[in-house]
This record gives sequence, C-alpha cells and structure tokens, in this order.
Amino acid sequence: MEPVPDVPFVPTSEEVVRRMLQIAKVKPGDTVFDLGAGDGRILIIAAIEFNAKAIGIEIKKDFVLNIKKKIRALELEDRVSIIHGNFFEVNISKADVVTMFLLESVNERIRPKLERELKPGARVVSHEFKVSEWKPNYFEKFTCSDGSTHDLYLYVMPPEKGSKK
Ligand SMILES: C[S@@+](CC[C@H](N)C(=O)[O-])C[C@H]1O[C@@H](n2cnc3c(N)ncnc32)[C@H](O)[C@@H]1O
Repeated sequence: MEPVPDVPFVPTSEEVVRRMLQIAKVKPGDTVFDLGAGDGRILIIAAIEFNAKAIGIEIKKDFVLNIKKKIRALELEDRVSIIHGNFFEVNISKADVVTMFLLESVNERIRPKLERELKPGARVVSHEFKVSEWKPNYFEKFTCSDGSTHDLYLYVMPPEKGSKK
C-alpha cells in the first residue's frame, strides 16, 4: 500500500512559483529541490525560466509517472529529475534552493533535517507556511493577478558555527 502523504496535493499557482524562485534568487546552474513535487510545475519553471537543475521528491507514484512524462515531453532530462520517495528520507544536501508548500506542522517536522543537511547560504522558500523557530530573512505578501494573496517566507541557512566567513 502506498504511504499516506503528509500534505494533500494543492498546486502553487504559476505566478506564485515564479515569485518564489525570484525571491530565492535562483540562478543558472543552481540546484532546486521541491519537497512534494505535485504536478512538477516548480521543477519545470525552475529549469526552463531560471536555467536551474531541478529535483523533485514526490511520494505519490501516479504523480511521479506524470512528472516523468512531462520531463520527457519537454526534453528536460538533463536538468529535471524526480525521485519517488518520502522527503523526510531523501538526502537534500546538494540543494542551493529548497521550495516547499506543505503545512506549518510539517515544516516544523522537516526543520531539523534542513538544519542538518543544507549548506550555509542555501535558501529555503516556503509558500504560505512559516518555519516556526526560524526568523525569515525576507517575507512578502504576494498578490496574484486574480487578487489572491500569498505569504512567502525566505530563509537563508546561516554560516556554520565557528566559521569566520
Ligand atoms: C501542497 S502540494 C505542493 C505541490 C507543489 N510543490 C506545488 O507547490 O505546486 C504537496 C505535495 O507533497 C506531496 N507529499 C506529501 N507528503 C509527502 C512526503 N512525505 N514525501 C514526498 N511527497 C509528499 C503530496 O503528494 C503533494 O503532491
């Protein structure tokens, strides 16, 4: 039996995706991880519009198969990949940027893993839900063209303790 997702699928609108990637200052060659990739839209926009390498983690097999199809159709195999698995269990230490649209309770559970694995300077951008215990480096209430507003939180991983950089 397939494991139960920690969060249901609700897509981030493409306008919000673009703003998240802008806020995180995604640049060509950056590696972007989307925790819970859904229909893969963050991966595809990161690769096509920001020239990033994008890696998604998704627990639902049918979503993974759908994303694989999109990657093939758009010929993005060199830049986009999808891992079928649980984001609590997949190593994300290669990330320059992590995107999340989860829940505050799930952010709280994933926080120790982010602190353990992410390198100093890596950016975490969360749609709608803050990471409690962390102070955002930037916050924005983004208004979409349909008038809906979205809380966007940016966190930059601090230098390692003891580092003078
Ligand atoms: C709210 S949707 C966000 C989808 C996409 N990131 C976006 O912003 O459009 C959350 C996604 O996380 C997936 N998910 C939930 N728990 C997961 C877990 N433990 N590991 C991997 N994926 C998970 C769900 O199946 C769903 O597709």
